[in-house]
Amino acid sequence: MYNLLKGKRGIIFGALDSKSIAWKVAERAHEEGATFVLTNAPVAMRLGTIAELAEKTGSQIIPADATSIMDLENLIDKSLKILGGKIDFVLHSIGMSVNVRRGNHYTLQDYNFTKTGWDVSALSFHRVMSVLYKKNAMNEWGSIVALTYMAAQRVFPDYNDMADNKAYLESVARSFGYFFGRDKNVRVNTISQSPTPTTAGSGVKGFDGFIAYAEKMSPLGNATALECADYTITLFSDLTKKVTLQNLFHDGGFSNMGVSTEIMDSFMKNYDAAPEATEKKPKK
Ligand SMILES: NC(=O)c1ccc[n+]([C@@H]2O[C@H](COP(=O)([O-])OP(=O)(O)OC[C@H]3O[C@@H](n4cnc5c(N)ncnc54)[C@H](O)[C@@H]3O)[C@@H](O)[C@H]2O)c1
Repeated sequence: MYNLLKGKRGIIFGALDSKSIAWKVAERAHEEGATFVLTNAPVAMRLGTIAELAEKTGSQIIPADATSIMDLENLIDKSLKILGGKIDFVLHSIGMSVNVRRGNHYTLQDYNFTKTGWDVSALSFHRVMSVLYKKNAMNEWGSIVALTYMAAQRVFPDYNDMADNKAYLESVARSFGYFFGRDKNVRVNTISQSPTPTTAGSGVKGFDGFIAYAEKMSPLGNATALECADYTITLFSDLTKKVTLQNLFHDGGFSNMGVSTEIMDSFMKNYDAAPEATEKKPKK
């Protein structure tokens, strides 16, 4: 390891179990010499295995629902005490869509569910930064990162209302990032990660097809959760001090592809076998 985060203090949101991207970030941050507080929604304390991670990394856990300002204020106040100083890095690794969970089609959303999903997945990032900003809790040259997905820019039908939530999240990163940069010399970025087999990821309809397709489209293959953690560590380190307001694709090259030869080959095989299968279907 490189001691990239030696002496740095952080807060990591969203480690549910060992598959979580935030879990891998916590393990890597620990290896790189950081100390941090782990946090998640109170319900996740029961459903997940975060206590195991806390023990492994010598961290304390402070439950906080990211939709509650009170919880977030308590989290930041306690973290400043536990860590013994201001915060150098924050990971927002939170996502949840009730419409996806309930199987509601994008065109027929329950808007109460839509609001809840947006509140948890997108507005929560603004809320976290607002509390950090107000309390002047970030150290100069600190780094704030949130995780996102390319459905914010391109159409992935089964990603449902999470696509809109991610577009909002990325916009908040830019808008708040301006003030954090100008006023506090803190950077704010989003990492747009490949499909990854976690609890949130696997909840998306047709995830197996989705991840296999991305693997075949990406010249370097899909990025794993651990690789995402490695990339996140670079953004927390002093090696990326002037990177801010960016949406950074970490996807093996997927986002700049049109089509790969592997996908073309599979299409041509189908075409040769059954040309009628590629004929345009009549509209419903
Ligand atoms: N898995 C993928 O394919 C993929 C791809 C790109 C981006 N992402 C993003 O990565 C992030 C982490 O997801 P993951 O894939 O590691 O799945 P995960 O299910 O392990 O993590 C999601 C986390 O959000 C937390 N959460 C939900 N509601 C909350 C609330 N009200 N307050 C606080 N925390 C709450 C959950 O408890 C959980 O720990 C999410 O933003 C997700 O959208 C995931």
